[in-house]
Amino acid sequence: MVDPVHVNLLSWDERAGIHARDATGDYMLDRFRAGEDALHAIEAAELGDICGKCVLHLQCHIGRDTLCLVRRGAVATGLDFSGVALDVARRLADETGLKANFVQGTVDAAPHLTPGPFDLVFTTWGTICWLPDVRVWAKVIASVLAPGGELYFADAHPGFAIMEDHAGRLAPQYDFQTPVEQPLEFVNATTYTGDPTVMTQQSTREWIHSLSAIFGALIDAGLTVSMFHEHEVLPWRGLHCLVPASDRLWRLPDGHPRFPLSFSLRAKKAR
Ligand SMILES: C[S@@+](CC[C@H](N)C(=O)[O-])C[C@H]1O[C@@H](n2cnc3c(N)ncnc32)[C@H](O)[C@@H]1O
Repeated sequence: MVDPVHVNLLSWDERAGIHARDATGDYMLDRFRAGEDALHAIEAAELGDICGKCVLHLQCHIGRDTLCLVRRGAVATGLDFSGVALDVARRLADETGLKANFVQGTVDAAPHLTPGPFDLVFTTWGTICWLPDVRVWAKVIASVLAPGGELYFADAHPGFAIMEDHAGRLAPQYDFQTPVEQPLEFVNATTYTGDPTVMTQQSTREWIHSLSAIFGALIDAGLTVSMFHEHEVLPWRGLHCLVPASDRLWRLPDGHPRFPLSFSLRAKKAR
């Protein structure tokens, strides 16, 4: 059997190169280099003051958001399994003069590679769908957080992730909880930024995690959920029928029954 995590690594290495070129401006790298903040409105509004905090950015990709945390005064470490993505992240750090520590490894290995302790674990937008088991994810987060430390997490809503677009109407297509051993296989010729480059590594394996799996995992890992918000917007065009909203976000078209496309939460480790 193919190792799904390895299949995904091949895809992410290739995507990282395409995202670094940023031909469509989707990652707004030139604007970011020029000093603009690149966090989305949701996390920018919810994050609060992180100045002086020791932050672990899990699945940091090309490091842009890690460096946005540094601009807010955080002492940041970014972890990702893609060496190509981290090369881009280190280049971005050099180009902007922002300092962050970038570490290559899987999320499971974070307690060994980046043990912390951290005041904040930050992980957003397109993360746990790449992880087979959110119980492992939650234990990793609890392990690297300092007593009193917090997780900030924002991602696609599982109620949206199960949908497919049928001529402009969304209908459930996938089970609400993907078994660890039976990931969904997706084949995409191009990446999600709109860049038309046809990829060699088109296949990925992904998991949909239900809200009860996510909350249950965090609670079982000893964390207390202190905030949970649902949002009618998503930072990428997850399905074709989505239309642009303000602030680089996407929403359901007018007339479509409304439901949340994303959610965000905070969870705290006891002191
Ligand atoms: C959609 S990106 C993260 C999004 C990030 N907010 C951004 O756009 O900059 C997902 C990242 O997860 C990383 N990734 C996927 N599976 C991983 C794993 N098992 N361990 C560590 N990183 C992983 C990929 O390399 C990729 O950089």
